[in-house]
Amino acid sequence: CGIVGYVGSNLAYPVIIDGLKKLEYRGYDSAGVALHMGNSIEVYKKEGKVAALEESVHGKNVQATIGIGHTRWATHGEPSDRNAHPHYSNSRNIAMIHNGIIENYAQLKSELLQKGYTFKSDTDSEVLVNFIEDIKINNECSLEEAVRIALKRVVGAYVILLLDKDLPDTIIAARKGSPLVIGVGENAHYLGSDASPMLAYTKEVVYINDYELAIVRPDELILKNLGNERITPFVQKLDMELAAIEKGGFDHFMLKEIFEQPQTIFDSLRGRMDAEQQSITLSGVDKIAERLLRANRIIIVACGTSWHAGLLAEYVIEELCRINVEVEYASEFRYRNPIITDQDVIIAISQSGETADTLVALENAKKQGATIFGLVNVVGSSIARMSDAGAYTHAGPEIGVASTKAFTAQLTVLYLIALKIAQLKGTIEATLFNRLLADLANVPAYVKEILDDQHAVIQAIARKYSDARDFLYLGRGYNFPIALEGALKLKEVSYIHAEGYPAAEMKHGPIALVDEQLPVVFVATKDSYHEKIISNIQEIKARKGKVIAVVSHGDNVATGLADDVMVVPHVHEIIAPVLSVIPLQLLSYYIGVYRGLDVDKPRNLAKSVTVE
Ligand code: G6P
Repeated sequence: CGIVGYVGSNLAYPVIIDGLKKLEYRGYDSAGVALHMGNSIEVYKKEGKVAALEESVHGKNVQATIGIGHTRWATHGEPSDRNAHPHYSNSRNIAMIHNGIIENYAQLKSELLQKGYTFKSDTDSEVLVNFIEDIKINNECSLEEAVRIALKRVVGAYVILLLDKDLPDTIIAARKGSPLVIGVGENAHYLGSDASPMLAYTKEVVYINDYELAIVRPDELILKNLGNERITPFVQKLDMELAAIEKGGFDHFMLKEIFEQPQTIFDSLRGRMDAEQQSITLSGVDKIAERLLRANRIIIVACGTSWHAGLLAEYVIEELCRINVEVEYASEFRYRNPIITDQDVIIAISQSGETADTLVALENAKKQGATIFGLVNVVGSSIARMSDAGAYTHAGPEIGVASTKAFTAQLTVLYLIALKIAQLKGTIEATLFNRLLADLANVPAYVKEILDDQHAVIQAIARKYSDARDFLYLGRGYNFPIALEGALKLKEVSYIHAEGYPAAEMKHGPIALVDEQLPVVFVATKDSYHEKIISNIQEIKARKGKVIAVVSHGDNVATGLADDVMVVPHVHEIIAPVLSVIPLQLLSYYIGVYRGLDVDKPRNLAKSVTVE
């Protein structure tokens, strides 16, 4: 979910609506605002995207200078007007928005029901706002005090923003486990799940930590811990431009972000690689170098697309550094009582730095003594802050829900990390080191070449296959994670069922699906397994499947066999995946567009999953 708040001397409503649109990538099944009108709090909310809310509010009195807004990704209760946030307390004296999950809501709800409270929605959030109201009434205390008491009993993750009828110039906010940033303006404060809603107004921000409570007025920001002690806010300067979060002439953010990759990959390499000196500068790796050198193994923890980057890193690090690597889904890792020691180094990969499963998995591992290295895109995010060391991917804000430029930035930095460790350990020959570094330096130009030369070709292929019901993606070795990522991208933006598989493993099941209707995408660039994958293509052709292949420039054999090809420059097989994925991103994008879908905001998904 995305949350926004404004308190200041201007109208709150336009700031909130604009902010919600910037946060829609976090969830978009319903949206709402609460405005403090002086004598009352007015709540407007609507199922659907922020535009639907705007339409429903049209003509209403929105002359308030303080308000809060929410765009939702449903957890408790289906998407509907009724379950949309903000939620009133029974008296309507308090309105609240919430991002996260209250795990013990059932217990709290039954206590409140016994006391005669009623509920209009199915949400855990409405339980929490009434729980807070009940404490406020019984203890005859301030809202701030009531929130503090309530949160000591609440189990779960939250960011909450509250308005109180008795406090016409104050927003109360608190966080545990979900992100909250407060922007400091001129006689105004801005609140948001990330900094994008406030970027147009201020560059001075305060990142709120877990278990902190903020009392926010136009000219005052008071931070306290749950023990009611004051904390001095740490004001940071934001290094981000507004243009970075706008579409800049592209039809969709996803397309813009695909086309930004020559630049973003360059940015992730910038200042970190010196081909002449044959050296790599990564201060995060230096910081834990000793740990890395004596690590028994590296465990990579991530979700979704970031997990695919981790899978490729396993192949690369094991090959170049000869360290045992395990790649874990954060959600599985955190619940299955893994064996972790202080000899383990964990690499956490996360675009947002806020994914709840990843964050908690890391916290657990840290408690058991592991060293955490964070590979994160969003600067100042929770995972970045809890890591012992790390490296930012520097892809800039990624708005499209399906990850593209963040993925290639992750791969780029993971290559650098692997090369650096290999150099420190002495497990890599100078010639290979130099070859890989040279290829890496050329990746931005090669990506541009693919985008320029293959754009129209891929559009045509997308049109041809846009009615398919299923897709199979196959790859071997370094390209296997790319087959998984290609399939995930297609699923996310086209709603076509797609599966990624190791090409040889296809014989043990998926081959049963092959007929003349089934497009099979082969990630078949020239590498040490090339002949093997050519055989796999033959096996599909023999069963009348349609073959779409990503091939290296000049590969006549694969080109001759495939029905359609997408061509990429030939580089060392270790580096090839960062190029192979580019055509697959474009293919998914155009199939989604031809099917008439909202590729930037696919149904049911959210960019940043801050619930487990
Ligand atoms: C969500 C997003 C994916 C992303 C995954 C992990 O599912 O839709 O694009 O790969 O979360 O997110 P993270 O921010 O941790 O990389």
